Amino acid sequence: MAALDKASIVAVIGSGAMGAGIAQVAAAAGHTVKLYDTRAEAVQKAIADIAKVYQKLVDKERMTAADAQAATARLQAADGLAGVAGAALVVEAIVENLDVKRSLFADLEGIVGDDCILATNTSSISVTAIAAKLRRPQRLVGMHFFNPVPLMALVEVISGLATDAAVAETVYDTSIAWGKNPVHAKSTPGFIVNRVARPYYAEGLRLLNEQAADAATIDAVMREAGGFRMGPFELMDLIGHDVNYSVTQSVFNAYYNDPRFTPSVIQQELVNAGFLGRKSGRGFFAYGDGASAPAA
Ligand code: NAI
Repeated sequence: MAALDKASIVAVIGSGAMGAGIAQVAAAAGHTVKLYDTRAEAVQKAIADIAKVYQKLVDKERMTAADAQAATARLQAADGLAGVAGAALVVEAIVENLDVKRSLFADLEGIVGDDCILATNTSSISVTAIAAKLRRPQRLVGMHFFNPVPLMALVEVISGLATDAAVAETVYDTSIAWGKNPVHAKSTPGFIVNRVARPYYAEGLRLLNEQAADAATIDAVMREAGGFRMGPFELMDLIGHDVNYSVTQSVFNAYYNDPRFTPSVIQQELVNAGFLGRKSGRGFFAYGDGASAPAA
């Protein structure tokens, strides 16, 4: 099996943090990328932001001006969901909700060709379950990138029970062609990284709940003594509390309410408040204007 041809069109559904990153990487790898989001302004913002990132890479002499211009020109807003019809690969990066993802893929099946690969960037939902209602579930696979996509090399290629091995292989090889370091995994709750990472967040949240130390101190200890790139609180702020809370709920439910994965009320309250982390300007910490003090 080989990677997708560069001439193949890639569609990215959802133009938030992850969708924009995936589009940036796919366009830089040579594909025409069609972006779709229910919020048209999210698509426009993603394309403008990616163009700025390419320009920064030119300034740092890590990309030529001609390559940046060509990659920017390959980023196109899809004309409605039907505008992704010619894609060879669709990568979904919308809200972390099984019913919403199923409904999107059902719509996509009526739009794309039979050979088109359908990939989900879900962090935790069963790939088997997302595929189950499709006419051709064998074409759906997990293509799980990490945040921020352009910087994080790992891609988990997740096979559900019905996934065709050749589809997983094409996505694996395509990830390599996009400069990533993929790994095959089966569809289990949280897959590899999110399963192993859950206790990292959960214990940090328990420590905070017990007032052992504040969030900034726990983060600093984990960075300086633990050797982690980021502490649990700054990492949750980067991921987004809506996304992270949904992932914890999903893993907790899938493991029959195993107490190890119990979601935190602290995080539930952040979501209730709309304090979603970096993307909303406030989470455990404040971002943007007046960003010096902890916010929660
Ligand atoms: P986000 O909230 O930044 O972006 C989601 C985008 O999807 C929004 O622009 C929204 O308007 C759009 N959207 C929602 N429903 C839609 C629909 N039915 N059709 C088209 N567009 C729709 O979320 P983010 O962080 O980009 O996450 C997206 C997916 O990627 C989720 O499944 C999440 O679990 C997964 N993921 C997130 C990571 C993270 O660190 N944030 C890491 C790896 C995976």
